[in-house]
Amino acid sequence: MLPTVEDTTLIELPKIIDPRGALTFVESDHQLPFALKRAYWLYDVPGGESRGGHAHREMEQVIVAASGSLTVRVSDSLVEKEFFLNRSYYGVYIPRMIWRELYDFSSGSVCLALVSTLYDEADYLRSFEEFRSARQ
Ligand code: TYD
Repeated sequence: MLPTVEDTTLIELPKIIDPRGALTFVESDHQLPFALKRAYWLYDVPGGESRGGHAHREMEQVIVAASGSLTVRVSDSLVEKEFFLNRSYYGVYIPRMIWRELYDFSSGSVCLALVSTLYDEADYLRSFEEFRSARQ
């Protein structure tokens, strides 16, 4: 059975409050439901732009609004769900074979992606039609 949007969940990450500032952390297989292999981050996203617009055959990830805010829309080709992220201690867990789009980035926002695999273009499903067929 492939994951569905029901398996795409908001994860509350640990938050260590301190007069010197707050700290949040993740560890492989603990706060993250997979072993961490890669991280990347999106920044300087112009107003009105969207990122994502693909799914992955194997890769799982957690998306965090490390600064500012953005919206994550996910689809399993039948059902859609949206998450508004504006706190750096929340992450959206996106399992394999889920379509995602990231949009409504606030000015100056930074989106951190924590990922289960190394970069591999062959893992991408970049057309929604290809994604829909792969789910059947
Ligand atoms: P892409 O995953 O399409 O960006 P997004 O989903 O955020 O819109 O990646 C954009 C480009 O960056 C593409 O040419 C592949 C490259 N890239 C890497 O080389 N390594 C990486 O870890 C990632 C995420 C992308």
